Formats: sequence, C-alpha cells, structure tokens
Amino acid sequence: AAALPEGYTIRPLQKNDYHAGFLDVLAVLTTVGDVSEQDFNQRFEEMKASGTLGRGAGGYHILVILNGEKKIVGTGALIVEKKFIHSLGQVGHIEDIAVAKDQQGKKLGLRIIQALDHVAEKVGCYKTILDCSEANEGFYVKCGFKRAGLEMAHYY
Ligand code: ACO
Repeated sequence: AAALPEGYTIRPLQKNDYHAGFLDVLAVLTTVGDVSEQDFNQRFEEMKASGTLGRGAGGYHILVILNGEKKIVGTGALIVEKKFIHSLGQVGHIEDIAVAKDQQGKKLGLRIIQALDHVAEKVGCYKTILDCSEANEGFYVKCGFKRAGLEMAHYY
C-alpha cells in the first residue's frame, strides 16, 4: 500500500471538518453550491444514521486526508448498498473522489481508493464499482479497477 507523505493523515469525515476545507476540496470535482454549516451538519447526521462500521454494515463511509497543517487535501466516499440478490450481498459504490489541485500526483488519490476498498472488503461487499470519465480511466486502472459496463443517467 502507498504511504502518505510525512505529516499527512487519513481518517473518517468528522462534523467539524466543515471548517477544515472539506467543501473546498469537493469543489475540485464539481459544483458544491451554497452549503451552510447547519446544512452540512444535517447531512452529516443523516449519513451517519444510515450505517456504522463493522461486517454487514451499510451506509456512508467518507474519508478525508489532512496535510501537516490539518487542512483537508483529499476526500472520497464509499456507499455500501444492501441487496436481496447474491445471498443478501452488498455492493460498494465509490463516489466523489477529489484531491486538491496543488496536491495531485502525490498518490493521495490512490491512498483514498485503497482505504475505501479496505472498508468495502471489511464490511463484506462482493464488489466495488464506480463511474468515471475516460480522462480518469488510467487512474482507476492503477488503483486495480477495470472497465465494466456502461453508465446511463437521467437528470431531473
Ligand atoms: N490518467 C491516468 N493516470 C493517472 C491519472 C489520470 N487522469 N491521474 C493519476 N494517474 C496515475 C498517477 O500518475 C499515478 O501513477 P503512478 O503510480 O504510475 O505514479 C497513479 O495514477 C496514482 O495517482 P495519484 O497521485 O494517487 O492521483 P491523485 O492524487 O492526483 O488523484 C484524482 C487522482 C482523484 C483523479 C485527482 O486528479 C482529482 O481529484 N481530480 C479531479 C476530480 C476528479 O476527477 N475526481 C474523480 C472523479 S470520478 C469519481 O469520483 C468516482
């Protein structure tokens, strides 16, 4: 497994991460919108209520990487979906991977994916899937993923 740079740490998202630059990092990925601290806290609690750690747990697992100054420089999410098929199987969905522009190329993205993969395996997922652009295919191949299927979307 790739090591983090000296002084960097990885851990689950916490409530006070609103003040550590969490949404700024997500803005590297897409439009975040106007999210107040109260909005963030409410969504955080909703996600927390939908699952805990441990084998068989579903729900949201959001990780953040902090630099030596305790500023968030990377994030990624694993959503564990429970199924009836595959003997009540669970599927991991990797979403919202983002590394701050000035921190890219230091293997932080790889480290996030490895950590999320580890959680998925630990809770008993039989596979983990994700959607990405062609431009990011090479990154996910380096993370051990392979092209499978086709994404369809219906926007509202
Ligand atoms: N194409 C091909 N290879 C790549 C790419 C790419 N776009 N990006 C990184 N790599 C390679 C690196 O060169 C490295 O290879 P090496 O081991 O041979 O040196 C390996 O993949 C690991 O790269 P990291 O340094 O871990 O990548 P980084 O920390 O820069 O994170 C990421 C990659 C997350 C794609 C980052 O560039 C980013 O945040 N981009 C903008 C947001 C984004 O597109 N996020 C992904 C959306 S898809 C989703 O969320 C499911």
